[in-house]
Amino acid sequence: MLENQQKLIHTFGALADLGQEVAHKQNFQEMIRTSLHLVLGSLAIMRGGVARYSRFGHELNMLVMRGLGDNFPLSLSLCYEDERQFLANGLAPIEVKHAQVLPFVQIYDRSFESKKIELVIPLIIRDELVGVIFLGEKATGEPFTGYDKDIICAMARHIGVGIAQRNLMAELERRAEENRHLYEDLRTTYKDTVKAFAAAIDCKDKYTEGHSERVGKYTEIIAGELGWDNDHVEGAAIAGYLHDVGKLVVDRNIINSPTRITASENAQLSKHPTVGYEILLPIHHPYADVPLAAKYHHERLDGRGYPDGLHDREIPFIAKIVNLADSFDAMTTDRPYKRRRKSEEVIEDMHRNSGKQFAPELVTAFCRAMLKELTNERKEKRFRKILGKDYLEADKIVPLLKNVLNARNATSPLTFVAAE
Ligand SMILES: [Fe+2]
Repeated sequence: MLENQQKLIHTFGALADLGQEVAHKQNFQEMIRTSLHLVLGSLAIMRGGVARYSRFGHELNMLVMRGLGDNFPLSLSLCYEDERQFLANGLAPIEVKHAQVLPFVQIYDRSFESKKIELVIPLIIRDELVGVIFLGEKATGEPFTGYDKDIICAMARHIGVGIAQRNLMAELERRAEENRHLYEDLRTTYKDTVKAFAAAIDCKDKYTEGHSERVGKYTEIIAGELGWDNDHVEGAAIAGYLHDVGKLVVDRNIINSPTRITASENAQLSKHPTVGYEILLPIHHPYADVPLAAKYHHERLDGRGYPDGLHDREIPFIAKIVNLADSFDAMTTDRPYKRRRKSEEVIEDMHRNSGKQFAPELVTAFCRAMLKELTNERKEKRFRKILGKDYLEADKIVPLLKNVLNARNATSPLTFVAAE
C-alpha cells in the first residue's frame, strides 16, 4: 500500500508539471499521451485511449491510444442521448457492462468487447463534454475498486482541463485570425475608397487627369526614401491621393479654365485646401495627418504660400512632402496654357527653390530616389511608369541629380555621390 501511495504521489506530481505545458500546441498531444501513460501505469491498466469531443461533428476523435490495436475506431459518433447521459453522469467512471443503455455503447460494443474496455470516463468540464477516456482491464484481472475509480476521476479531471484549455486556445486563435481578416478587409475597403475619391477629384479637371494618383505615388516614394515604416508610407500616400479633395466643391469652369483665371476665381480656387481639411477632419484616418496635408499643401517655406502664409517649421512635415510631390507633377505634366517642362529644368527648379518653397531634405530624398532608379540601384521603375520611359534621360539626368545631391549636403559623407 505504501509503495502504491508513493507511486500515486509521483504520478500527481508529474501531472501537475504537465499542466504547465498544456497551452502550447505542440506539447498538447504529448501532454495527453503522457497523462494517459501515467493513468495506465499508476493502476497497472493494460490499455486505453483518450478522445476529444467535437461539438460540431458530434464525434469523439481519438487523440492517443495505447494497446488498442489498429481496429479500434479512430472516430466514434455520439448522439444527443449519449451527450445528455454523459452530462448527467459527470466525471465518474462508467462501467461498460452496465452502460448498454447508451446508444454509442450499443454501436461500438464489439470494439469495446474485443479490447476489453471496462471503463468509459466522460470528461465533463464546466458542464461541457470535452472528451472521453477509455480504459481496459487491470493487469491483475481484478475489478476496479472504488479507490481506483477515485484516482481515475481525479486524473480524468486533469486531462479534461487540459483539453478544455486547448479548445479555448484554438477558439482564441480562430477569433484572432478572423479579426486579422476583418482588419485586412477594412484596410482594403479604405484604400479603395480613397482611390475612388482621388478618381472623382481628378474627373473634375480634364487637363490634369490622374493628378491625385500621381501625387499619391510621389508622396509614397518620398516617404519610403525617408525610411518611414510601411504603415506611415501608406498613410503618406493616402494624404497625397486626397490632398485636393477640396476641389470637389470648386466650380468646374474655374478648374478647367483654358486661360489664366481672374482674381475672384483664384480666390475661390484658393479655398480648396481649407475645404479639403474640413471634409477630411471628421473621418477617422489610420494616418492622422491626412487632413493636415490637404490644408497646408500650398504653404511654402518662405511664408509666401497659402492659406495661412506659414513659415518653414510651422508647416506640417506631411504637407511639405505633398507640396513637393504636387509641384513636381504640375511641372512634369501638360497644362492648358503650357506644355510640361523638360526634366533637366524641373530638377534645376527643385534645386533652386529648395529652402524657399521646398524643404531641402525632401528635395534630397526625391532626387536620391530618382537617382537610384536611373542607376538601377533600385529595380522597380516607379518614375518611368508615371512619366513615360523617355522623359528621364539617364545620361543627362544622372550627373544633374548627383550635383544637386552634393550641393545640397556637401559636408555629409553619407550623401556625397561621385559626379564621374
Ligand atoms: Fe492643391
